[in-house]
Amino acid sequence: MTTTEHQSASPTSPSDAVTAGAHATESARSGLSNLRGPGSGEVDQQRIATVVGAALEGIRAAIREHEVTYEEFDAFKRWLIAVSDTGEWPLFLDVYLEHEVEKVAAKRQQGSVGTILGPFWLDGQVQLDTPATLPMRDDEPGTPMILAGQVTATDGTPLAGATVDIWHTDDEGWYSGFASKPPAGNLRGVVRCDDQGRFEIHTRKPAPYTIPLDGPTGQLTQAAGWSPWRPAHIHLLVAAPGHRTLTSQLFFTGDPYLGNDVASADKPELTLDPQPTGRGDEIRADRDFVLEPGSDD
Ligand SMILES: [Fe+2]
Repeated sequence: MTTTEHQSASPTSPSDAVTAGAHATESARSGLSNLRGPGSGEVDQQRIATVVGAALEGIRAAIREHEVTYEEFDAFKRWLIAVSDTGEWPLFLDVYLEHEVEKVAAKRQQGSVGTILGPFWLDGQVQLDTPATLPMRDDEPGTPMILAGQVTATDGTPLAGATVDIWHTDDEGWYSGFASKPPAGNLRGVVRCDDQGRFEIHTRKPAPYTIPLDGPTGQLTQAAGWSPWRPAHIHLLVAAPGHRTLTSQLFFTGDPYLGNDVASADKPELTLDPQPTGRGDEIRADRDFVLEPGSDD
């Protein structure tokens, strides 16, 4: 197994945290600058002193309050080195800290509720016109699922030219591009909506999964006795010209890991309740998205 975020219901699934971590690190280096804009590039000395100073003081306070020993301090150093060696910084940061950054950003945002991006978005996936079927294997396991809806502006105007970039795990919790099992591009795509902003995406329902347990992030999680599970979810980037791209995830009612997401990314507003379509075991969920004016810079 070569995923950085993997399902572990099957203890026979091997994981290669180093390989997956390298992929996630490379993706973070190359893709995120395009996704979120280049930034100002300016160094704000006061801002650095304030934010980094507060973060360091939080750690110092923990050391004082809990009387951290040299043995624990050295174990901390070794763990930090392991996170670097395995390329798990994107995983660790996105699992344990990104949700707080997202909440800060959300305070000044309008439109549909979003959540974290996570470390497993990949740029340059296949572009498809709606109604679209995501790339999948001939014998792709899992429940056939349709996700459909409409993308509009905050005033209700349908957004022609909208796109829905979608990625999720397969029925066993593996991400293509980060795991050896699914082929490249599996269950990933960028769907072009129609001239009314409508989309219809045919895929498979994803599965809950754990973060990888063989790397330092998973090892820390288990050592602390925390749950490593993420509820099943679909990742989305909903975009339209002249509007801020919405980063979101959609979850499923009844998922046993809702409310106990290791990444703290689930929100009640993001839960789907798919219903049977009557065609075999196929299910369908409808979800509209509202984008606010603006850009991603
Ligand atoms: Fe995910």
